[in-house]
Amino acid sequence: MSNVDLNARIPNNVDLAQDKRLLRALEQWLPNYLDWWKEMGPEGFQEKDVWLRTAISVDAEGWAHFDYVKMPDYRWGIFLADAVGDRTIGFGDAMGKPAWQVVPGEHRNTLRRLIVTQGDTEPASVEQQRRLGHSAPSLYDMRNLFQVNVEEGRHLWAMVYLLHSQFGRDGREEAEELLERRSGNPDKPRILGAFNAPIDNWLDFFMFTMFTDRDGKYQLLALAESGFDPLARTTRFMLTEEAHHMFVGESGVERIVERTAELMKRDPNGDARNQGGIPLDVIQKHLNLWFALSLDLFGGEISSNAAAYFAAGLKGRAFEDKYAEHTALEQAYRMPVVKEGALGEEDVPLRNAMNEVLRDQYVLDCQRGVDRWNNRLAEAGLSERLRLPSKRFHRHIGIYAEMPFDQDGALLTKEEWERRKGEWLPTEENKAYVRTLQKAVMQPGEIANWIARPARGIKGLPFEHAYVRLD
Ligand SMILES: [Fe+2]
Ligand SMILES: [Fe+2]
Repeated sequence: MSNVDLNARIPNNVDLAQDKRLLRALEQWLPNYLDWWKEMGPEGFQEKDVWLRTAISVDAEGWAHFDYVKMPDYRWGIFLADAVGDRTIGFGDAMGKPAWQVVPGEHRNTLRRLIVTQGDTEPASVEQQRRLGHSAPSLYDMRNLFQVNVEEGRHLWAMVYLLHSQFGRDGREEAEELLERRSGNPDKPRILGAFNAPIDNWLDFFMFTMFTDRDGKYQLLALAESGFDPLARTTRFMLTEEAHHMFVGESGVERIVERTAELMKRDPNGDARNQGGIPLDVIQKHLNLWFALSLDLFGGEISSNAAAYFAAGLKGRAFEDKYAEHTALEQAYRMPVVKEGALGEEDVPLRNAMNEVLRDQYVLDCQRGVDRWNNRLAEAGLSERLRLPSKRFHRHIGIYAEMPFDQDGALLTKEEWERRKGEWLPTEENKAYVRTLQKAVMQPGEIANWIARPARGIKGLPFEHAYVRLD
């Protein structure tokens, strides 16, 4: 059982007080982090009391504490899941050897890259979402946004802890750079493309937390298998917080769908838009967009990097222990590929297809969420359904990048794509309409017209609770 020091300036269960050098390095980073938070964290509301949960232990029961907190006073801590005694590497060429407790020299650069890339997404999403508080559809939703934001901040702490504790001077430099890059800044952008576009409306926010945070979940699951034990333990605990982010997205879209169905039935022409709601086709187009952008985050379908990470025991498959075989040698993945302008198939060595294996696991998880949304439509007696587009649709990375596939994955001509893409992706007109709905509702218990109330509030409190105190 790890020792939790909650009263420290940096709450932790990693015995920071015993490691003076590390403690000093992190204490030097802390004010820079707070400067970043004040400059790039949620705009406005920094001085307001928000009903937030804070991680205080890694026990499955009671790991979080709920109270009113001003966001800059949030206790960003460092928590690792408990160590598994005598843990060994679970896959790849070094399978069965003891897991590394100290970063192995031969994998130092690769691991640093993996940690920096993961770490960079955490502050990036806070930056992307920083103006959304001003258009929250309810105080409940505003609080959920801020909860996600502070936890992404803590995820940055988690990665910076690894950089500081394991990578010496270059680790400290990388930690500084994580505070210097800015989402959408052409001179110093965030590392991954999807994290450079601002999220300026709540439909995008819910799709982001549904689909992009879920990519995060699968990256964390793959890293939780890592033979580099500090990384595995850090990411395992991050997953407990990540679950809430996906709840925000999945239930957020579900409440939009529920409200849309209600408004469709109320309208004489069955048109939710006439009633101030978001039409299903607009929801579907945003789903298509965010699903495609999030699929890109898994990387190329055929990847020698992915093969090398797996071989080295650095990044596994999600739930690696559920597989019967852990070397992934002499096995193949049957991949749909484009050859001479037509779709065909090709066998790819399994290790080279590891990004695609992880992507497939992710797609199944997304489908489960979409099924829940469709249950709302079915319960409302409507025949319309939402669906995931093909994995080939609107991709920018990998073997389908920039190819004109329709929503079902059929290959079109470029001309046909240009003519028809507005059927599948949000048009300027769609975006402008969604923008007109972005008006804050800031009275406890009230909610915007285009989204249903949640079935329940937070931690036993009613929806009407003042989750953010605005006075
Ligand atoms: Fe995160
Ligand atoms: Fe997240």
